[in-house]
Amino acid sequence: MNASKERVLEILAGYGNDGANLIAILQDVQAEYNYLSEENLTLIADTLGLSVSKVYSVATFYENFSLEAKGKHIIKVCAGTACHVRKSGPIYDAIYEYLGLHGKKKTSDDGMFTLETVACLGACGLAPVMTVDGEVHAKMDPETALALLEDIRKKEAQE
Ligand code: FES
Repeated sequence: MNASKERVLEILAGYGNDGANLIAILQDVQAEYNYLSEENLTLIADTLGLSVSKVYSVATFYENFSLEAKGKHIIKVCAGTACHVRKSGPIYDAIYEYLGLHGKKKTSDDGMFTLETVACLGACGLAPVMTVDGEVHAKMDPETALALLEDIRKKEAQE
């Protein structure tokens, strides 16, 4: 058995393999792997004795579950009112284009970045704000945002 499967079974056992705990189980598995893979959703359904479609419908209903693998670095652009007024939209658009995203695709092809929006980060005085891997970057504009991502790419290339 691979380690990932073992870990998911451990989480399931921690909830008594009880389907009534499905949401909590999905939250824990997502916290562990950043997203819910097809393999893990099937494993959860099989272990709980639920249909795969039932587990999928719960996973797709709640917005905070992701069925797409996320990138190594998570970028969040604040879409709260203060940031929106100070033009966080063009920052999001510039990153979206820079990463070559399209439609609902939120992760760059190289698996390096995932782009998301977030509601007010509570740092409105620093608007417009974005975070990379949880670190807050204040008073951004499209140029400084792209320079920041270029820097991360360069550092990654050196490693
Ligand atoms: S609206 Fe962006 S930090 Fe408050």
